[in-house]
This record gives sequence, structure tokens and C-alpha cells, in this order.
Amino acid sequence: MLTSPLIDHILATIPNRTIGVLGDLFLDRYLDIDPALNEPSVETGLTAYQVVGVRSYPGAAGTVINNLAALGVGHIYPIACIGDDGEGYELRQALGKMPAVEQGGIFLSATRRTPTYTKPMLGKEELNRLDIKNRAPTPEDVQDRVIALLDEAWPRLDALLVLDQVSEKDCGVVTRKVRDHLARLAERDPAKFVLADSREQIGLFRNVCVKPNWDELIKLDPVAANTVHKAAELGPRLAADVKRHVFQTSGKSGIALYEPTVAQRWLSGASIALRDCFQDIPAYPVSGPIDICGAGDSCSAGIASGMVSGTTHEQAAAFGNLVASITIQQIGVTGTAPPELVRKRWSEVNE
Ligand SMILES: Nc1ncnc2c1ncn2[C@@H]1O[C@H](COP(=O)(O)OP(=O)(O)OP(=O)(O)O)[C@@H](O)[C@H]1O
Ligand SMILES: [Mg+2]
Repeated sequence: MLTSPLIDHILATIPNRTIGVLGDLFLDRYLDIDPALNEPSVETGLTAYQVVGVRSYPGAAGTVINNLAALGVGHIYPIACIGDDGEGYELRQALGKMPAVEQGGIFLSATRRTPTYTKPMLGKEELNRLDIKNRAPTPEDVQDRVIALLDEAWPRLDALLVLDQVSEKDCGVVTRKVRDHLARLAERDPAKFVLADSREQIGLFRNVCVKPNWDELIKLDPVAANTVHKAAELGPRLAADVKRHVFQTSGKSGIALYEPTVAQRWLSGASIALRDCFQDIPAYPVSGPIDICGAGDSCSAGIASGMVSGTTHEQAAAFGNLVASITIQQIGVTGTAPPELVRKRWSEVNE
């Protein structure tokens, strides 16, 4: 499915491509505490931990952005609302380290917080995480601004990745109104590759490709998911609903790729076997320890890189698997795959 010339072609093409990333931008913030410096707090008598280092990284949609940048995508255009707060400032600083990232689509709102996971590290031990989230629905004016930015950027995007990370309904960037607007844009422009990833709402996207893992797919119909043959129907049902390809990731098995017209014909009773609704795109096996944190996001970045280089959906899925097989071997960090590692890994698996 992949060949050395195809990989060279993708890596040579993406510096000239623009990929949008619509969705929830988080800040992942590590506070490095030196236990030898612990002090008692005069006010409370509790131990005051002394932070000797702060490490800030873009998370959620920011992980996708990191992966696109590492692969060598030339222009990355995030569309997101963040808070007018210190966390938002740190997030923009972290994004600013990637020259390919254009920040014109990121706007501040005085009524929103920058979603932040703060991880206090007492030496090697991770203490209780502190989460900052928006728990009230995204205001109408913020949604309208997201939509206006999406409309403005749309013509110059070669592809768009959508990351709907926030579990609280309509509290993130990708609200129902934004999703419905995206469905209209994508319906008018079927040639533009759009890939959506969503923790809770994958079944509500229309006219865009989607990338659920198994847990996200079964949210479509938790009852059906309990019976083997009904569960197997969820993939084709989703492909028929979204009317675009479904890249269902499944860890070490790789990706099951569902094609919408075949799925539609199967659903309407044509004599097609369920098995013919999808194609298995195998993962690239990894030996030794793995860290699957961020596997899905690196896979998305690989898929989009393939698609903007003119590959088929099958080849893009295989490239996504190849990229993810690199990042999962990076332990304790949210991994990325620069071109030299892609070539090295390909020569390993190609032997
Ligand atoms: N053990 C593994 N061996 C090889 N490849 C793997 C393995 N686990 C994951 N991958 C690769 O990573 C991709 C995404 O993995 P997975 O299905 O676990 O995604 P996910 O659940 O969305 O992950 P995330 O937790 O990052 O959201 C797979 O399609 C595959 O390409
Ligand atoms: Mg995922």
C-alpha cells in the first residue's frame, strides 16, 4: 500500500500545504517540584511545594498541531477560542515555537477559560491533576466568531482536522451550531478532506470523514454494541450517516476503513457482505514498550498528510498507521514523527 516513492512524495508535498485544525486547544502544564525544598506554609501549616520548573505544551487540538508541524506541514491554521488568561498566554507562547503555526484563527474571550491540565510532578511522582474547564455552554457570540473564522479560512485550506475534545455538551469549540455549519460547507465542497475526531459526538457529524476508536463508535448505539453482529453494523451505519469514509482505529489492529457508498448499498439490502463494507489497513507492529498517549492524534496528522498529497484513503490510513507506530514508541512524552524518523521507520518495516 505504501511505497518508498509515495512516502518521499508525501514528505515533499506537505511543506507546500495548509491544514486547518478546528477544535479545543488545551494547555498541558507540568509543574516540576523539588521535594528537597519543601517548606511549611505559615498560614496553613501544610507543606508548600516549591516549583522549580514549568513546562507548557499545547494539548488536545494542540497535539494534532504538534504532530502536523513535526511531519513538516508548511502551514497550520488553528481555529479556536481560548481564555484571556495566563494559561492562554502560555499556550500561545508554546504554539509560537512552531513556525508553521499561524495564530490568526485563535481568539480570546473574556468569558472563557483556556482549558488546562496542570500536572504537579513531585520528583517522578505525578500528584493529583488540576483541571480548568469551561462548564457553561459556549456563548453564541463565540460560536459565531468560530464560524466566521472557518468561513474565512475555508477556501485556502487543503484539509481540515476537527478535534472535539470537550465531553461537556456544547461547552467546547465544536458546538452543534459549528458542527452543522461545517456540514454545510463540506457538503458543498466534497473534494476538501475533512476528518473529525470526537470523544462523545462522533455520530452527529455529517459530510466529513470521521475517526472514531471502538469506544467512541459504540456510543452510537450502546445496546447494539452488546451483540456481536449488531456491533459489526455500527461502522457501516456511521459511514452511511456521515456520507464519507470512516477511519475506525483499533490500536494494534490498525484501521478499519469504511467506504460510504458500499455501506449505503449494504444498508439498503443490496447483496453485499458486511465484510465488504470495510478494508483492514494493518498497523505496523511494534516490539518493546509502548505509550499510546496521543496515538490517535498522530494517526490523524498522518492521514491528513497523505490526503493533502493526493493519496487514496487507503494509502493515507496506512501512512497514519506508520506515523502512529513511531509516536507510540516514545515513552512518557506525547510523541511526534519528524521526516527522518518516518523514513527510518519505513525502512525498518519495509525489510
Ligand atoms: N500496539 C500498537 N501497535 C502498532 N500500532 C498501534 C498500536 N496501538 C495503536 N497503534 C496505532 O495508533 C492508531 C490509533 O490508536 P488507537 O486506536 O488506540 O487510537 P485512540 O484510541 O484514538 O488513541 P488516543 O488515546 O490517542 O485518542 C492505530 O490505528 C494504530 O495505527
Ligand atoms: Mg482518540
